[in-house]
Amino acid sequence: MTQAVPDLVYEVRDGLGILTFDRPDSKVNLLTSTVMLGLDQLLTEVHEAARRGEVRTLLIRSGKQGNFIAGADISELAALDDRDTATEISRRGQEILMKLEQLPVPAIVAIDGTCLGGGLELSLACDHRLACDHPRTRLGLPETRLGILPGLGGTVRAPRLIGLRAALDLILSGKQLDAQRARKIGLVHQLLPSASFAEDALKVAQGFARIGKKPLRRRSLLLRLEDSAPARWLIQRLTRRAVLARTRGHYPALPLALDVTVSGLGLSSEKAYQREAAAFGKLAVTPECKNLIAVFQLTEGARKNVPAGNAAPIRRAAVVGAGVMGAGIAELFAYQTVPVQVVDIDEPRVQAGISRARELLKKAAARASWSEEELRSRSSCLRGATGYDGFERVDIVVEAVVERMDVKRKVVAQIESKLLPDATIASNTSALSVSELQENLEQPGRVCGLHFFNPPHRMPLVEVVRGALTSDDTLATAFNTAIRLGKTPVVVKDLPGFVVNRILAAYLTEAGHLFQSGMTVQQLDGVMQNFGMPVGPARLLDEIGLDVVAEVSQTMINGYGERFRPAPVMGRVLATGVTGRKGGRGFYEYEGSKSRGVNKQIERVLRETASGEKPSASDAGERMVLSMINEASRILDDGVVGSVESLDVAMIMGTGFPPFRGGLLRYADALGLSHVVERLRHFAGQLGPRFEPAPGLLQRRSFYTAE
Ligand code: NAI
Repeated sequence: MTQAVPDLVYEVRDGLGILTFDRPDSKVNLLTSTVMLGLDQLLTEVHEAARRGEVRTLLIRSGKQGNFIAGADISELAALDDRDTATEISRRGQEILMKLEQLPVPAIVAIDGTCLGGGLELSLACDHRLACDHPRTRLGLPETRLGILPGLGGTVRAPRLIGLRAALDLILSGKQLDAQRARKIGLVHQLLPSASFAEDALKVAQGFARIGKKPLRRRSLLLRLEDSAPARWLIQRLTRRAVLARTRGHYPALPLALDVTVSGLGLSSEKAYQREAAAFGKLAVTPECKNLIAVFQLTEGARKNVPAGNAAPIRRAAVVGAGVMGAGIAELFAYQTVPVQVVDIDEPRVQAGISRARELLKKAAARASWSEEELRSRSSCLRGATGYDGFERVDIVVEAVVERMDVKRKVVAQIESKLLPDATIASNTSALSVSELQENLEQPGRVCGLHFFNPPHRMPLVEVVRGALTSDDTLATAFNTAIRLGKTPVVVKDLPGFVVNRILAAYLTEAGHLFQSGMTVQQLDGVMQNFGMPVGPARLLDEIGLDVVAEVSQTMINGYGERFRPAPVMGRVLATGVTGRKGGRGFYEYEGSKSRGVNKQIERVLRETASGEKPSASDAGERMVLSMINEASRILDDGVVGSVESLDVAMIMGTGFPPFRGGLLRYADALGLSHVVERLRHFAGQLGPRFEPAPGLLQRRSFYTAE
């Protein structure tokens, strides 16, 4: 037995070389630079043994259940700051995988669990790919999500193996496929049942070892057609257009990965590898790549930031209020197979909520290719009721009734009277005080906020609100519940708007002032979409609902003062009776779920109400972004979140703040805080005290580096 590095274990049994990836003291295997070096040495050894006839097949597998290889080591990638070094790292990696591909004997890979990035690229260099049919098996090339591209030959091998279109889909979306899908597109050759995966994979490899010949594979006619120059040209053109429309050019990895993948098909492998490595080197040192890596690390960190306290296990849950949010939250529990009781004031509302949750589960089933049984077992977790019978068995209740303090207090008191002493009550309130909800309860410490965002099944953030009397154990339970439901939790203090809505309120208030000074709906939305926001402010106002925004403004004024006072034009817009998407008319017009262009009536109102000088597009964008940064700084001053990292995570996960900018505060750092302060003062001079820099901004030199 040879051991080049501790992560790699190699042995030969009856002519079968078995290489097991097993990183010590870790749940996952990574392709670190040390592992790659070790792999190189081992492959040299296998080559020689194969030549001597001692090894007739190589089996590559993982020693970990549920993880094959998670990819490269992100911290090594983060540290790369030189283009030539990055290019060279890619070249060396490619050479090692070429050595694997060129073994004179078959290489078989047994994939059980996560097989991402470099892990999949290594698999593509093998002759025969086996995958475990368990849902934990996920294959993908997520590199472009980190601002790079597959740099170990993935852009060259993938289109040759599965066709150009399927390869581009994998590389440009970064999506992860389950074993069935991977089999369907030809990414793996054979599925094996999870119960006996390790033994079955060994048997398949032994079968290859008996013959010792590489399998011959012919490409289908369809794939060969995709290789033709006209087909490549067309695919490239259409894909480029779609990518640019989606990203507005903010993610340089995407067009470059597209070009490298497409052009690679028309080149010799050697030339194609060279182009891939050069592109990898170029991308690895871009600010976008560094920011995307930072965001990846931030979100990983956020999920591990568990508050002190003993989290109670969640075996059963209940959701009270089966409306928009309640139904969505109930689905999240059922999705995780946690039995959940859904309560509303009458039977039709209960049933409507359950139907909506079932619909969402069905869609999830289609996406994840669940079996009928998997869907049924989740759907059967949903149970409806108009009362609280059975609450003595639940571990957590999420309250999602209408946003009225009197109603919520009554409901929470009723819930408390039914629950066992250590069960948790979490309110999904978006603006009311959790501390006020705790008043007059028997056990106020068990109450906290769990603020999901709409729609709950899509939005990854949950703000976990610590009320004045919330106990550590309650907070830990709520945090863990959010993790269990697949969300990224951020703990926040109980102040109006918490983090996300408070920053959005500042942003949308400024958008109102910009309408007041004559900006149009399309101009304003265009500015912020160009900045990278998923939707512009007018569209966001429509989505939230103009009536809701007016209420939130009032809460913000009560909490923080006049800087949140809406521009007069917003009152005029509201007076027309439009409410946004839910009412079919807002800044835009809607028909069913479709948007039908800008609402002409509102455009007229904006035109007639406009006063003062119309700002330039760049000033408009700057004003909205500075408003967010300024409010974010106040949030830090108020101690609403524990760290700058948490605030950036909250903004990215809760509003879609552009990840390529690394987060709101990281972006502020990139601008330079002295510049931010200078521009705020400039606008304060022009537009008034709402732009006065927050006290904390004047004291800091940077958000991220303690100075
Ligand atoms: P919704 O109006 O769609 O649903 C509220 C449901 O509560 C209704 O079905 C109503 O019948 C039910 N309800 C009222 N009184 C009740 C009682 N005594 N017992 C049981 N059920 C009762 O409202 P939505 O939008 O789902 O909001 C619910 C909560 O979630 C609110 O606190 C809201 O602020 C918060 N929230 C809403 C978001 C949104 O975008 N809609 C986003 C984040 C939080």
